[in-house]
Amino acid sequence: MNVIELNHPLIEHKLSILRDENTGTKEFREIICEIGMFLCYEAMRDAELDEVEINTPLVKMKTGRLNEDKYAFVPILRAGMGMLDGVISVIPNAKIGHIGMYRDEETFEPVNYFFKVPKDIENREVIILDPMLATGGSAIDAIELLKSKGVKKIKFLCIIAAPQGLKKLEEKHPDVEVYCACVDEYLNKNKYIVPGLGDAGDRIFGTK
Ligand code: PRP
Ligand code: URA
Repeated sequence: MNVIELNHPLIEHKLSILRDENTGTKEFREIICEIGMFLCYEAMRDAELDEVEINTPLVKMKTGRLNEDKYAFVPILRAGMGMLDGVISVIPNAKIGHIGMYRDEETFEPVNYFFKVPKDIENREVIILDPMLATGGSAIDAIELLKSKGVKKIKFLCIIAAPQGLKKLEEKHPDVEVYCACVDEYLNKNKYIVPGLGDAGDRIFGTK
């Protein structure tokens, strides 16, 4: 499976604060952003660099530089917005698109309400942001929308993923790599990830 899980004590430490029901909005938001940055760092491991020649204060040298114009971040609204500052802090010149989706409370199916991406999106590697991958429905639909616009290379960054959603995503889009901080255990009857962290959007924006 194309799933890269961040196995790291610092990530487990940060997740322990995120998962804690007593953690408030400010700290929750800060950690979602921080983990977003770590996920982006890992997702860029295979990035191709352009060779450039520079002068250090001591010598001339050849080195590698990232062409940031090759990338676009696409947060899935609302919760994906929480990861945006983290990823933009490491690739500040990437373009940004937005996909608005919410999960119908009865059917748990995603409903798309907004789609706006850079006009040259088909020439960019797209990195989708959403803290939660539960049934996988939102991720699958977002990827389909981007592919229908001609996007060829897509990565999906999430904080917590459920095995069931990962399996469904792998069946539909085997070419998409998923980077997550942790693969959790299962989905409950309301399709919430267990042990999880609750409703990511509500906790980021303080709406409940
Ligand atoms: C959450 C989450 C994902 C989706 C995951 O969004 O941020 O987008 O649910 O569930 P799935 O894998 O079963 O599709 P939600 O619908 O709660 O919207 P919000 O971000 O506006 O809170
Ligand atoms: N969306 C969330 O915010 N949390 C879950 O556990 C599942 C979907």
